Amino acid sequence: MKQLKGVFSLFIPLILILIFSVAESSQDNSNIKVLRFHKFQRNKQHYQDGISSCFHLKSRREEGSTTMEIKHRDFCTKNKRHDDLEKRRLNLDADQVKFLQYRMKNLISGELQTLSNTQIPLSSGTRLEILNYVITMKLGGKNMTVIVDTGSDLTWVQCKPCRLCYNQQEPIFNPSTSLSYQSITCNSSACKSMQEATGNFGTCAYSPSTCNYYVSYGDGSYTRGELATERLDIGNSHVNNFVFGCGRSNKGLFGSASGLMGLGKSDLSLVSQTSKFYDGVFSYCLPSTDAGESGSLTLGRKTSVYRNTSPISYTRMVQNPQLSSFYMLNLTGISIGGVHLNNLSFGENGVLIDSGTVITRLPPSIYRAMKAEFVKQFSGFLSAPGFSILDTCFNLSSYKKVNIPSVKLQFEGNAELNVDVNGVFYLVKSDGSQACLAFASLMYEDEIPIIGNYQQKNNRVVYDTMFSQVGFAEEKCSY
Ligand SMILES: *[C@@H]1O[C@H](CO)[C@@H](O)[C@H](O)[C@H]1NC(C)=O
Ligand SMILES: *[C@@H]1O[C@H](CO)[C@@H](O)[C@H](O)[C@H]1NC(C)=O
Ligand SMILES: *[C@@H]1O[C@H](CO)[C@@H](O)[C@H](O)[C@H]1NC(C)=O
Ligand SMILES: *[C@@H]1O[C@H](CO)[C@@H](O)[C@H](O)[C@H]1NC(C)=O
Ligand SMILES: *[C@@H]1O[C@H](CO)[C@@H](O)[C@H](O)[C@H]1NC(C)=O
Repeated sequence: MKQLKGVFSLFIPLILILIFSVAESSQDNSNIKVLRFHKFQRNKQHYQDGISSCFHLKSRREEGSTTMEIKHRDFCTKNKRHDDLEKRRLNLDADQVKFLQYRMKNLISGELQTLSNTQIPLSSGTRLEILNYVITMKLGGKNMTVIVDTGSDLTWVQCKPCRLCYNQQEPIFNPSTSLSYQSITCNSSACKSMQEATGNFGTCAYSPSTCNYYVSYGDGSYTRGELATERLDIGNSHVNNFVFGCGRSNKGLFGSASGLMGLGKSDLSLVSQTSKFYDGVFSYCLPSTDAGESGSLTLGRKTSVYRNTSPISYTRMVQNPQLSSFYMLNLTGISIGGVHLNNLSFGENGVLIDSGTVITRLPPSIYRAMKAEFVKQFSGFLSAPGFSILDTCFNLSSYKKVNIPSVKLQFEGNAELNVDVNGVFYLVKSDGSQACLAFASLMYEDEIPIIGNYQQKNNRVVYDTMFSQVGFAEEKCSY
């Protein structure tokens, strides 16, 4: 007996050491992520499956919340993934960010500055082309697959009779076949909220005195038509008299989507219009593009329906009266492989979190510091030429997997966005021979930093407009 006890007392420190070392190594691991290169080649069948699986996206209702399947549009189109497409996307993203900066600067200064045509090509329609995540909702009983945008408010679909409509996959919405469709008169409060929601006053059409709307995404893309109400079904819940735009003239959105769902902050956004059901809370998990993976868009406060694998950490939304329609946050720090970059200042306006910008943009001095730390830790790899707005690229084609330093964005209130391994590198070439750090520099120090959708992938991002906070948690996106 005594002997046994002796053996045990020997064992206990051993066990403690083992537990301790496991804990220690898992802590180490959180500063390093493993990026694997899958050689995923899409064939014809994938495209066919992809196109059909991008419409009739699923939805479900649980515990009072509604969850909709969300997909990336890349998999819905016949375009092959090749360098030109990727380059075009990043160039569009650059134009789009220039335009956003211009808009925000005007709002902050309260004056309209002139924008020369050389600064931004005003006919490109970049914002709508760059928005890439789609869901399917039911409007007047008809499936409508639309892109989601946290940066605008009015939900709209292309509508018959069309003056100018692009080609879309689903039949165009036809109000004359719907009994629940009702156009809105110009003396209604919804028509009066148009200015806040779209920046343009609703205008009156005479006999019948309906409210006409116009939303310009500023870069040449727009939608114009009649403001109306209709029955909206999302999940198994339905909203009567949902205010939306019946778009008779639409430009800038190409193929594969019937319109747009606005998830911004004003009264006319879907979030506000459904707040009595969903409490002004929505969240998403944006899937990565490869293999047509699904993510989800959830309406409602019940966090138990999410599939997050880490606790949700919240940070307050920065209230900036000039930028009231944008979701602004207080980014306070960045850590690379566990090393905190010191003395960072992201400016007094906060940073924009946007579902419609691809690559995260940082002030030049902060980007330089981040890049220096990243390159220091990720050393010994062949470098590769830069690509579009990305200037830090590697040739990793001889590796099946590489360890990369983790990237974490820290916000006021100890909230943290732990960037998924797929959000750290932008694989220009899928064999890894041109893998670029997926962050970019703003043009000027005083521009507003933006957290793009590339860095939000495989995270649950919760927008709580009621309590004015945004939350982050890790999640492997699925529907
Ligand atoms: C509409 O989409 C749902 C899935 O969201 C699908 O089950 C249904 O068949 C579609 N209806 C039509 C008419 O295509
Ligand atoms: C708007 O005008 C119509 C007549 O054109 C009238 O019947 C209706 O009551 C008015 N609505 C409001 C909210 O003033
Ligand atoms: C911190 O940054 C400010 C300007 O952004 C600079 O003036 C100051 O010297 C820096 N402090 C340290 C300790 O690096
Ligand atoms: C962000 O938080 C820091 C630290 O709490 C604070 O000093 C700073 O003023 C905040 N910035 C904004 C834009 O609210
Ligand atoms: C990447 O490196 C490999 C050798 O590791 C080389 O064969 C290949 O040509 C390089 N590719 C590019 C695009 O530089």
